[in-house]
Parts: sequence; structure tokens; C-alpha cells
Amino acid sequence: MTIKISEVSKFYGTQKALDQVSFEIGIGELVGFLGPNGAGKSTLMKIITGYLSSDGGTVTINGETIETKNVAIRSQIGYLPENNPLYTDLYIREYLEMVAGFYHLQNKKEQVLKMIELTGLKAEQHKKIGALSKGLRQRVGLAQALIHDPAVLILDEPTTGLDPNQLEEIRQLIRTISLNKTVMLSTHIMQEVEAICNRVIIINKGTLVADGSIDQLKAGQFAQKQIIWIEFNRTPDLEAFRKISGLRKIEAFNQTTYLVESDDSTDLRPAIFRFAVDNQLILLTMKEQQQSLENVFQDLTRKV
Ligand SMILES: Nc1ncnc2c1ncn2[C@@H]1O[C@H](COP(=O)(O)OP(=O)(O)O)[C@@H](O)[C@H]1O
Ligand SMILES: [Mg+2]
Repeated sequence: MTIKISEVSKFYGTQKALDQVSFEIGIGELVGFLGPNGAGKSTLMKIITGYLSSDGGTVTINGETIETKNVAIRSQIGYLPENNPLYTDLYIREYLEMVAGFYHLQNKKEQVLKMIELTGLKAEQHKKIGALSKGLRQRVGLAQALIHDPAVLILDEPTTGLDPNQLEEIRQLIRTISLNKTVMLSTHIMQEVEAICNRVIIINKGTLVADGSIDQLKAGQFAQKQIIWIEFNRTPDLEAFRKISGLRKIEAFNQTTYLVESDDSTDLRPAIFRFAVDNQLILLTMKEQQQSLENVFQDLTRKV
């Protein structure tokens, strides 16, 4: 199943929560949807799942337009909402059977048992949801999202509020259930994306600011800057060095080694090479420095 978002906008009153967001997610992809609190992640996920209508743009799943009333296509989507609202008074099995009932599943009981098995709830299956730990509740949330075997999974902050052990268990479970499905998972934690996803989409204040692989992010492709290590055989004329076009910052480590930063995403290396040749310098090292994901995230989401 392919998810296609085209120029989706959303207003809450006069506040623009989403501003012409577009991207496409292909079959089998596990995409991390990242952004600071209030960026618009939950809003877009509600629009994709048909719980909220947009104020412009379209969402299609396998070419079919998502509308709040399009029940057939919604049955292809599994959704774990933010904060995982559950009926705490119900028993796990009772709750899952109720959800299975919503989808008019033929083999209701069988499917519930299968989900309990898959999400590792077997030992707890007779407990009330209210008696479960946060980690186990997330498992119930995942079980209800998966019960009708949807091709698309939308998980809104599935690991928020979990302790480190629960976190690793839920991540592992998400990896397992993601095989053969198209998955979009939101988080505000960069490491989460690095641990589970093969692609990252970042939004900030309702606008898409990056869409690519972790490696592309680390190389600064979206952060609009490049950082390079340079080592010359001798000290260059610093005044001339600073004049290299596109160079924003030079940090000297010693008389011959520097860390330079570009002021946009243009590759500085050809200009540096030319500078070395023109000044009869020997370039001993020139290496693009990977940036930490935290720095990239901050760079991308601090901007207005
Ligand atoms: N029901 C609502 N009414 C008014 N404003 C809302 C509503 N839901 C969200 N917002 C606002 O829209 C923006 C995006 O919210 P949200 O999609 O929840 O962001 P995220 O999930 O990335 O934290 C925020 O500024 C939030 O306050
Ligand atoms: Mg949210």
C-alpha cells in the first residue's frame, strides 16, 4: 500500500497546523515521522487515518482518496492514537473482541488469540486493561491496531512514556509487525528513528523540513550546511582562506588543521581544492564530517 500526501493543509481556527505538506510512502517502508511537540504530527496522522478532515490537499492510500466516510479504505489502516486511549474497565480479550466486532471480522475469536500471541500478551490475557503497566497497554494498543490485518499502520508516539526495557521490547515488536506493512511512526526522539526506521520525515510548525535517509540527514543535506575537516601541509593565508565563497565559519585546531562550515548545502570541497592549488598548498586531508542527529534536528526545527 502506498500512502500519498499532496499539499495537505489544516487550520484550527486561524492557526495553521499543517502547511501544504507533501510526501509519499511506498510499500514496505517503515518511516519515522519526527518533529517537536506541536509540529503537527498527530494532526496529519489523524487526517491520514480519516479521523480528521483536511482544509486542503489530498491523501490517497493505493490511489483511493481518504475521506472520513470512506469505510472500505479505512479498514486497510491500523491506527494507534497518541496516548493510546483504552477502555480500562474491560478485560484484554473482551476489548480486542469488541474491536474485532467493529471490523465485522468473521473469525473474531481466532483473530483475537492470534493478536494476543503476536503482541506477547498471552500471560496477561485475562487481566483488565486498567491493571496493566504502560508497556503492556502499548501492546494492547498495537494489538487493536493490527487486528484486522491492515496493510498500513499509523503509530502516533508508540513509545512515549515507556521505561528503557519496555521501550526496547516495543521497538522490537514494531520491527516484527512492520514486515510486509507500510508503517508510519511518529516520535520526537531522534534516536528512536535511528533505531527502527529506514527513512525520516521531519516537520516543524506544520511544514515539511526534511525527507530522506538517516545518512542524508547526518551529511547535513537538509540542515543546509556542510562541515569539513581540512589539513594543509602548512598554514594558509587565513584572510584568503576566509574568502572562499560559501564558507561561513572556520575553526582552527592548530596551525594547519581546520573545521570549516558552509552557509548552505553547496559542496565546498571543489572551492577548497582550488584554493589549495592556487596557493601552492598541499591538501593532506579533506573529509566531510557527519553531524549528530540531535544537531541536525535542532538546526532544522529551530528555524522559523
Ligand atoms: N483540536 C485542536 N484545536 C486547536 N488546536 C489544536 C488542536 N489539536 C492540535 N492543535 C494545535 O495544532 C498544532 C499541532 O498539534 P499536533 O498535531 O498535536 O502536534 P504534534 O503531534 O506534532 O505535537 C499545535 O499548535 C496544537 O496546539
Ligand atoms: Mg502529537
